[in-house]
Amino acid sequence: MLLKLRYYGDPILRRKTVDVSPEELLSSEFQEFLRDLAETMHAEDGVGLAAPQVGSEKRVCVAADGETVHVLVNPRIRGRSIQLTCDNEGCLSLPGLQAQVARHERVIVQALDPQGHPIEIRAKGLFARVLQHEIDHLEGVLYIDRAEPNTLVWLERKGEDEVDRVPVELAEVKRVFARRYHQGKSREELSFDPPSFQQASQIPSSGGGDERRG
Ligand code: NI
Repeated sequence: MLLKLRYYGDPILRRKTVDVSPEELLSSEFQEFLRDLAETMHAEDGVGLAAPQVGSEKRVCVAADGETVHVLVNPRIRGRSIQLTCDNEGCLSLPGLQAQVARHERVIVQALDPQGHPIEIRAKGLFARVLQHEIDHLEGVLYIDRAEPNTLVWLERKGEDEVDRVPVELAEVKRVFARRYHQGKSREELSFDPPSFQQASQIPSSGGGDERRG
């Protein structure tokens, strides 16, 4: 079953998630939820998807490493390279937007698999970026919180394979999302701003990169 996506401004995207208990994990309902999460990621053409993005407060996400989809329960980053790389990022909860984000080049992630067995993933490059993006979601953090200054753009399709990158201020993005995805809701019912978190170190933009949506 495809799950309904939540969009920027929805308060659930700004809440810290809670760990999944062993009993809950093995329940048929939760196993089905994990399958639905992966199915929804594929349907939306994403490379990752976190539970808050489909309205769940559980600490789970899915992340693609090429053709392999990893289902991560209670994931946590246990190791980070000192080296950072900057590249474009997008998010299924912020359609049409992209920004440059500095991420650790390598990370070590510990989690449970869907059967509750401990796993450890050593990731680098794009997969490491996806994992950091998805695990941020589980803390209520969005990539725009970590974006390099003045790199946020709207992607506007101009014909077949031409895309315009139009710089935009975050204040304007908030207005557009309130109007486009939360019509009829008052500003008090929406939540755009991040919980407090450790800002990633700022490094110069490297430019380039494909569209990546988590
Ligand atoms: Ni995302």
